[in-house]
Amino acid sequence: MIERNDSCWCGSGKKWKKCHYPKLPSENMSLLAKRYLQEYGIILKSPEQIEGVRRACQVTIQILDELCKHAKKGVTTLALDELSRKLHKGANAIPAPLGYGHPPYPKTICTSLNEVICHGIPDERPLREGDIVNIDASAIVDGFFGDSSRMVIIGKTTAEKQRVVEVSHECLMRSIAICRPGAPISDIGKTIEDYARAQGFSVVNQFVGHGIGLAFHEPPEIPHHYNSLHTPMAPGMIFTIEPMINVGVRDGIIDPINQWTVRTKDGKPSAQWEHTILITETGHEILTI
Ligand code: MF3
Ligand code: CO
Repeated sequence: MIERNDSCWCGSGKKWKKCHYPKLPSENMSLLAKRYLQEYGIILKSPEQIEGVRRACQVTIQILDELCKHAKKGVTTLALDELSRKLHKGANAIPAPLGYGHPPYPKTICTSLNEVICHGIPDERPLREGDIVNIDASAIVDGFFGDSSRMVIIGKTTAEKQRVVEVSHECLMRSIAICRPGAPISDIGKTIEDYARAQGFSVVNQFVGHGIGLAFHEPPEIPHHYNSLHTPMAPGMIFTIEPMINVGVRDGIIDPINQWTVRTKDGKPSAQWEHTILITETGHEILTI
């Protein structure tokens, strides 16, 4: 029987394992995928699925680019939602937020201003000088999901708002930097909360990042605060990191009328940035960049 280190039967002169050896990596991969599904409910994506999610993420950020360009003084968040509807249609994409959850989310994007932590609903209020606004877009393309959000500062704002926008971005980028196979998911929250606290800010713990790709929200949950979720990251995992950082207390209150909009308990500003991340064999790739 031919051994792995024998020269290949094809006459290339290379070892069999370096030449026509049956592809073990994909076999290992599917074993790992089975284990992750069984143990954690996590779907490790196949190369084909990764391509699908990659496209959805590209469409998501193209839409987000346009929305952020149009977020100017005097523009209502409702006008941004109307633009978002057009952009999704034009890209053959479905906005994932529309009709999502209970009660069904009524718009195609979230627009969270100032003291709003997340899930702000576009409305008639025009953007004003000094506002900080998070625009959150999630597109479905050919059944695959992308998710990303950014902050836009309207004109000149206060030093405090400026700072929370910067710190939340730094929290996101620092936590992405530690993502690689084998790293525990809890390292994300540790990286974020260590940095946010050092800057004198708090980390929201009522809302988390999430697995994504074949559905809007898949396992695992990705907490942004200190936690003990030690599931190791593995190649093919796709998830969002979307830290919400507050100037004051971490607590949020859900609007009792619309049952979506979350505001800081103390009314102080909050900021958030979000990327969709793929874990690769060697580290990670930001799919929404
Ligand atoms: N990025 C946010 C999330 O993953 C988007 C929320 S959309 C909503 O939860 F429809 F749930 F509001
Ligand atoms: Co998300």
